[in-house]
Amino acid sequence: MADVNRQWLLRARPQKHLRLDDFEYREEALPAAPLADGEVRLRNIVFLCAPTMRNWMDPPGNSLYPSVPLGRPMMAPAVGRVVASANPDYAVGDRVYTMSSWQDYTTVPANAWRRPTRIADGISFVEAMGRYGLNPLTAYFGLLEVGQPKAGETLVVSGAAGSTGSTVAQIGKIKGLRVVGIAGGPAKCAWLTGECGLDAAIDYKSENVAARLAELCPSGINVFFDNVGGEILQAAIDNMAPYGRIVLCGQISSYDSDEQPRGPRNMMRLVYGSIRMQGFLCGNYSARFGEGVAALREWTAAGRIHYREDLHSGFDKLPGAFIKLFSGANEGTLLVQIADETGASR
Ligand SMILES: NC(=O)c1ccc[n+]([C@@H]2O[C@H](COP(=O)([O-])OP(=O)(O)OC[C@H]3O[C@@H](n4cnc5c(N)ncnc54)[C@H](OP(=O)(O)O)[C@@H]3O)[C@@H](O)[C@H]2O)c1
Repeated sequence: MADVNRQWLLRARPQKHLRLDDFEYREEALPAAPLADGEVRLRNIVFLCAPTMRNWMDPPGNSLYPSVPLGRPMMAPAVGRVVASANPDYAVGDRVYTMSSWQDYTTVPANAWRRPTRIADGISFVEAMGRYGLNPLTAYFGLLEVGQPKAGETLVVSGAAGSTGSTVAQIGKIKGLRVVGIAGGPAKCAWLTGECGLDAAIDYKSENVAARLAELCPSGINVFFDNVGGEILQAAIDNMAPYGRIVLCGQISSYDSDEQPRGPRNMMRLVYGSIRMQGFLCGNYSARFGEGVAALREWTAAGRIHYREDLHSGFDKLPGAFIKLFSGANEGTLLVQIADETGASR
């Protein structure tokens, strides 16, 4: 049990780029108010830093989720333990995943979109947010369900060294595809073609992506899994094979900016090539998460998925860790643990 409820509040809406002082630290007394019907109170333990949280900092209207009000704790996905419940579906002590907020204790309304999900036995809090969490599940369902890959096809993945992208790329290899990753910098590219076993990697920070895609994919790209958007999406569109599939997972290149994202040009290429471009949300597949976790566990145990985690310890680390996503300074899934498994603060 913590002595106070530590919080990181959204102090200001980012101007152009995110800054540390867009957040403000505050401590308040432990929440004591009785819960309303249906609510649960959670002791947050591990937070996932997700790029799309940057969209929730913008004024209302830019995101699927509600904009975080100024002066309120930053909204974020978390795992934790139920410490009080006015909901018959949850008991004190339950370990759950939910949409939470940057504070020690969050009261969750348990309505449809914030409904907590129980963590399966045998999976730690860190694993539930990390190697078997939202990003690997996004990779699994996005590639297999939306991308519909077939053995022997060519898969290109942007943001390929990241949490979601590296899992997509390696599932592609497991499924018998030829896989090309796009990532920032020689170290990330070397990890992809080395440990992860990709066929090739393109360093978008030093190479001409469109030209390299043409060279590496002479028969065109069959599946493009896009985490980035902007010019990288354009370069992939220009190199798609007929009947290719473009999986729109995210658009990180435009999140931390006040400029309108640059849309793809020459959409007639999609018409001429009979190409399907489809967005998706991981949550669309929530009823099948058990299947995804089982597959990921099996591949992990067999050494077929190499996973990297950028785990920080301490509540004070939250804003600084989150900002790393937008410079590419993170190496793998970016997590911040603020309490140990017993609830003692870090
Ligand atoms: N649809 C869904 O349900 C869903 C769910 C989860 C995540 N996502 C999306 O998946 C994407 C990846 O998220 P993640 O959590 O796995 O993060 P991540 O890939 O582990 O980290 C973000 C990476 O994005 C790259 N990046 C940052 N700014 C960039 C830019 N301007 N241009 C190109 N690359 C840039 C950086 O890698 P480099 O060093 O290679 O630049 C950075 O390490 C995001 O777009 C996210 O919104 C979607």
